[in-house]
Amino acid sequence: MKNILVTGGAGFIGSHALVELVEAGMNPIVYDNLSNSTDKSLKAVESICGVYPKFYQADILDEEALDRVFAENDIDAVIHFAGLKSVGESVAQPVRYYENNVAGTVCLLKAMERAGVRKIVFSSSATVYGSPKSCPISEDFPLSTTNPYGASKLMIESILKDLYHSDHRWGITLLRYFNPIGAHKSGKIGEVPSGIPNNLMPYITNVAVGQLEKLHVFGNDYPTPDGTGVRDYIHVSDLARGHVLALQRLEKYPEELNIYNLGTGTGYSVLDLVNTFMEVTGIDIPYVIDPRRPGDIAECYANPEKAKKELGFEAQFGIKEMCEDAWRWQEGHPHGYED
Ligand code: NAD
Ligand code: UD1
Repeated sequence: MKNILVTGGAGFIGSHALVELVEAGMNPIVYDNLSNSTDKSLKAVESICGVYPKFYQADILDEEALDRVFAENDIDAVIHFAGLKSVGESVAQPVRYYENNVAGTVCLLKAMERAGVRKIVFSSSATVYGSPKSCPISEDFPLSTTNPYGASKLMIESILKDLYHSDHRWGITLLRYFNPIGAHKSGKIGEVPSGIPNNLMPYITNVAVGQLEKLHVFGNDYPTPDGTGVRDYIHVSDLARGHVLALQRLEKYPEELNIYNLGTGTGYSVLDLVNTFMEVTGIDIPYVIDPRRPGDIAECYANPEKAKKELGFEAQFGIKEMCEDAWRWQEGHPHGYED
């Protein structure tokens, strides 16, 4: 496994995956329309691992551009990160989300079929478990969604499963991410939310850097130890490494369909994360308790055993390192890659 097409490679998780791919001796080729990123992330990747990946600025809906990339490069497999990811935005603009995420993936799969490249690792999400009946969540739990973003992930999972059942020459891995946070240890690449962050960790770091006044904790009356929501936070570099392991398994077993949770198996509450952040950075994070956010669930954490057994995947970084690394990135880049 050498040449890996990485759609969405300039984004948050994609840029971290590029570093892990290069360090594993692979050659990532980036395909990204930069709709939610900048190519400065690729420069930063180069400064970490010494390689500026070959880059195509193009859309996954553009089939000619996709054909060109497959024609110009001897691609062995695809990691498919490209997609829109904001839950709130997906409720306001469902058609845009279905077109970009679902139709975009269909275009990619058609181009792969034309090129005879039949190995793909797809970025799915724990959101496909909807409101799980219990935790930890295993891969065989029932699936459901409550918003167009989640529905787009579930539709893509179905398309990929149908594709596999129609033609066993495909090798397909669905990775269901829990809550990726943190940043590469170097502090050179990280998450750049557009506007006011929706997710917890970027909101905390924006408060820490002085761009936002205080954190709003969405509910403290959940049936959890301290009443705030519990999630399975996973360091983005650990998550990125999971993709290398998924490719290595696909190389060994090229005609399989596999589904894995990528999480740590440990749940932390909102206040656990806030307190750990304050402890490791020494910065006060003022917060207020607000009502629950519509659509939120009380707790969500993975059973990570399948990925451990079959991929050899185990998260290496703990919650303290996730906070330290998120802060190192944010402090050095209060305005993202512009700094
Ligand atoms: P991101 O927005 O930072 O990265 C996505 C990248 O895809 C961006 O660089 C964007 O420019 C690109 N892109 C979007 N639409 C495109 C298109 N039509 N053509 C070409 N490029 C396009 O997001 P991320 O956090 O790195 O997420 C990567 C993937 O992982 C997404 O599919 C997301 O849904 C999924 N995911 C993310 C999380 C999370 O918490 N970050 C959780 C679960 C799943
Ligand atoms: C959210 C999305 C989910 C997506 C995931 C990763 C929703 C309903 N779910 O998950 O589909 O896959 O992001 O992108 O948007 N919190 C606060 N204050 C804040 C922000 C969050 O208290 O300002 C709390 C939430 O209530 C939750 C926890 O922090 O308990 C984590 O929230 P968040 O980071 O948004 O992730 P999820 O809700 O798990």
